[in-house]
Amino acid sequence: MVPAAGLGLRLGAGVPKAFVWLGGSTLLRRAVDMLHAAGEVQLVVVVVAAEFVRAVTDELGSDALVVAGGVERTHSVRAGFCAALAAAPSAQYVLVHDAARALTPSRLVTDVVCALRSGAEAVVPVLPVPDTIKTVDANGLVTGTPDRSTLRAVQTPQGFRVEVLRRAHAQDAAATDDAALAERTGATVHTIMGDPLAFKITTALDLRLARMLLEQE
Ligand code: CTP
Ligand code: MG
Repeated sequence: MVPAAGLGLRLGAGVPKAFVWLGGSTLLRRAVDMLHAAGEVQLVVVVVAAEFVRAVTDELGSDALVVAGGVERTHSVRAGFCAALAAAPSAQYVLVHDAARALTPSRLVTDVVCALRSGAEAVVPVLPVPDTIKTVDANGLVTGTPDRSTLRAVQTPQGFRVEVLRRAHAQDAAATDDAALAERTGATVHTIMGDPLAFKITTALDLRLARMLLEQE
């Protein structure tokens, strides 16, 4: 599942981030192609804002099922998950992968699937956090410094047994990633080594970095 229904406000490209061009294709097309290239994926479900469903359906053809998302990322994932369950009712595993992580290597897909096949009920790629992280209050005053050695930055694709994600999304809650919802239902979330190339294109600086990396290849 590829949530791509965000507005891309922090990037400020004037179009939703998924439709921004990078190295000859859009971020969305790159995500869909990478998922197919990994050779593990039966069905790709893309979630875009309602007004783009028709155009993206035409563009992606049989490469993906395209459905309308919602206001929050959680709503978009929920919509995509419902469509995925209807289209592939016997699926055992589901992966959720942000369109915005345009340079993600397909190795992450195979590693996540491998962890699921080995028995993990939920799995996320992570990297150590290079900066010291502070918690702050509403006035910007520091309230604490979590021990950095216990912190990880989380990437996608995030993988779940279907029933684990079903339970996670049965709650009427929102979170910035799907694993957080699974954690709240008591699921054990495993980690695998992420990849620096799976960084999320959030700001103009990230997009410049992605373009420079592709040019160097
Ligand atoms: N997303 C989504 N539906 C939403 C919000 C986000 O499908 N209502 C998707 C985005 O398209 C993106 C991924 O979730 O692929 C990660 O979100 P983020 O990086 O925050 O992207 P945007 O929400 O598009 O960007 P911004 O927050 O800067 O507006
Ligand atoms: Mg967002």
